[in-house]
Amino acid sequence: MSREEFMAAAAGFPEPFRLLIRESVESTNDEVRVLAQAGAPDGLVLLAECQTAGRGRRGAAWFSPAGESLAFSILVRPDEPKALWPRLALAAGLAVAEAVESFGLQAGIKWPNDIWIGQRKVAGILVEAGSDFAVVGIGLNVNSNEFPPEVSEIATSLRIETSQIFSRAEVLGEIVRKFAGRRRQISDDFDVLISAVRLRCVLTGKRVTLTTAGGPGVGTVEGIADGGELLLRTTDGLERLIQADEVRLLPP
Ligand code: BTN
Repeated sequence: MSREEFMAAAAGFPEPFRLLIRESVESTNDEVRVLAQAGAPDGLVLLAECQTAGRGRRGAAWFSPAGESLAFSILVRPDEPKALWPRLALAAGLAVAEAVESFGLQAGIKWPNDIWIGQRKVAGILVEAGSDFAVVGIGLNVNSNEFPPEVSEIATSLRIETSQIFSRAEVLGEIVRKFAGRRRQISDDFDVLISAVRLRCVLTGKRVTLTTAGGPGVGTVEGIADGGELLLRTTDGLERLIQADEVRLLPP
């Protein structure tokens, strides 16, 4: 890793973001949680070249090959009430989508916060809350050329999409800048944030299967509600889902 390149990019981070680089950790989310519990400040960004136990949502493993991808976690100490913290996941997803777009690609958001290019996932986000802080973990495939067989059909990278190599440091800088603005919109300006998410929502109008707390479901996505919930039309009517897993598109 070019530590100098990352530190140079970090010099352009907005306040209060600061970069800490680790060569190898189990998971950057776990590392930031420990630092947060020890009193680390809002805006700490911990980037690891290698994660030996990177985690995705629902406890899945997250594959982030050294030198090719970005794996980092941001410590947020929100001023907003805890009930609004889940919105940080939407803010982070939007920030990543906008950063990807700033490099000339078209990004989609698969609610709540997978980032897609075309029909493939390029980035994932894992937000975990502590008592007085949240950890926003972001994994983005930047220069990867191949993936493990279990995800090779559904994953992509900036490089695969463009045949170009990207500066990971520049991409990191863009994401942090976008997130610095969007994280401020989880309260009063949430309508602005949601409008930008809606523009990129790849599920709207599509038939999907998914798993909710109440069990498996199937329906057509009508969009995203004002509070950030997924609006799913099922045979029982319009459902407003705060959380859902395994959201899969059905063929048209
Ligand atoms: C998902 O799509 O399931 C979420 C993936 C989140 C991966 C990132 S990589 C940095 C941070 N550390 C982790 O262990 N996970 C997140």
